[in-house]
Amino acid sequence: MTETLKIEFVALAALPPQTPSHSGPEGAGGNAETARTLVIFTGKDLALGAATLRLIGHKGETLIKKAASAVKFKGKALTALDLIAPAGLAAERLIVVGTGGDEGKDGKLKKNEPPKPEDYTSLGGFAIGKLGHAVSAAIAFDLPRPPEDPARAAADFAAGMRLRDYRFDSYKTKKKEEDAESKGRAEILIGVDKPAAVRAQVKRGEAVTAGVLTARSLINEPANVLYPEEFAKRAMALRKHGVEVNVLDPAAMRELGMGALLGVGQGSARESRAVIMRWQGGKSAKAGGKDKSKPKSAPIAFVGKGVCFDTGGISIKPAAGMEDMKGDMAGAACVVGLMQALAERKANVDAVGVIGLVENMPGPQAQRPGDIVKSMSGQTIEVINTDAEGRLVLADLLWYVQDTFKPQFIVDLATLTGAILVALGQEHAGLFTNNDELGERLIAAGKATGEKLWRLPLGPAYDKMIDSKFADMKNTGGRHAGSITAAQFLQRFVNGTPWAHLDIAGTGMGSPSSEINQSWGSGFGVRLLDRFVTDYYEA
Ligand code: BES
Ligand code: MN
Ligand code: ZN
Repeated sequence: MTETLKIEFVALAALPPQTPSHSGPEGAGGNAETARTLVIFTGKDLALGAATLRLIGHKGETLIKKAASAVKFKGKALTALDLIAPAGLAAERLIVVGTGGDEGKDGKLKKNEPPKPEDYTSLGGFAIGKLGHAVSAAIAFDLPRPPEDPARAAADFAAGMRLRDYRFDSYKTKKKEEDAESKGRAEILIGVDKPAAVRAQVKRGEAVTAGVLTARSLINEPANVLYPEEFAKRAMALRKHGVEVNVLDPAAMRELGMGALLGVGQGSARESRAVIMRWQGGKSAKAGGKDKSKPKSAPIAFVGKGVCFDTGGISIKPAAGMEDMKGDMAGAACVVGLMQALAERKANVDAVGVIGLVENMPGPQAQRPGDIVKSMSGQTIEVINTDAEGRLVLADLLWYVQDTFKPQFIVDLATLTGAILVALGQEHAGLFTNNDELGERLIAAGKATGEKLWRLPLGPAYDKMIDSKFADMKNTGGRHAGSITAAQFLQRFVNGTPWAHLDIAGTGMGSPSSEINQSWGSGFGVRLLDRFVTDYYEA
């Protein structure tokens, strides 16, 4: 997770024109002189922006047209024309990145359809992917189709570069030369219209990106290193950003009656932990800080499943692919990443984040199928399958959060069921909610960030499927509707609080490579929930 990208913003006019005689700008700050690679943008019909034309001249334009026709480059979004040592230009390499719309059935590019906000992030990821080994590059962020909010677009672009650039390679003692994208420190100069406006937006974007990268690293970390106590320690690092962090040990959780969570962890040599994080950035919290008579508005709350390793317990999983279960704490990682993002960007909101950290292991102390545990809510649970452990952890956390904080709503994130992969694959996370408005807001934030959600139903008929012969409920509902019965189980612990559950088993880990993610742990949920908070809960 080495920091390899240095990004600076300058005015477009400060980028040196590409006349061969011109070895560098006088008085243009930064490292424009040393930029060996120039990145520019084009749209359909190979249109270039005015600032780009100034940089490469008509000679450059002609050169691009010729090269484009030779390789049938049409300026389509996320394609590029890569020119080495272009005759008549100063740059040693010119990368022309397409930004054009999708091609319709007739093979023609669709007319200027509005670009989606997530597109600039992908564009940044795509650009840094193309740059590869380049150690020094200048990017003329001058799009043929100007963005609605240019500063935000440039910030998203820079965020995309950082997200794409992330590598989890701390355990590789020998770095592979042939990894095309692994490189030394790269220095990137981005030319924009209004550098000052962009820098203000970038600060905010960097906070969110930092949160995503924190989540990714937690997910990628192996379970021999990241066990509950160590995870809790890493969450405590948020204190330096102003987050209040409290850790509950097994004795404290026993005191609270968290028998469902503790039952999951009892087979492990590693002790369980729960971590309560609080960011009080809301204006009412600040104003009412001293004046205790002023009622604070209710916080918003996030809960994450943090099973540091899921063997399945006594209902043990098959060997194939079991190593992936080090990522069964992706929900908790996302909550930590989100709290970091909110704190680092000083979000104007009161947010609580609670994570349950356990290791699900077989052993002489492990719980057995048929065991009945008592949850903090007082409801009893028959453990039919010890591999349905995530809901047991969340049951106590959901009850604890609604009871302690009386939040406006709770959103939980969990790698809860393999069944959600059967239903939705890795394209969408499953969304379950008892509140339509909450659901719609989450779906909208998902569309805006490209971290997409798909709502699945809840209902009394599904709820009946987890009734138990011996206890108030059982922890599995049989073969059918596995993701839904898991969500029904959780709903029994929210006590009517507006609540949404995101099943991220398909999207949180084992992620396919994308323009903005090359990491196994994607950090899914941090950008989504940051957007959700920004758009609906910050005054
Ligand atoms: N952590 C798993 C779910 C999972 C599967 C996450 C694949 C990521 C990828 C969860 O604890 C689990 O084992 N669920 C069981 C539930 C079943 C026993 C009712 C499952 O999905 O098989
Ligand atoms: Mn399991
Ligand atoms: Zn699990």
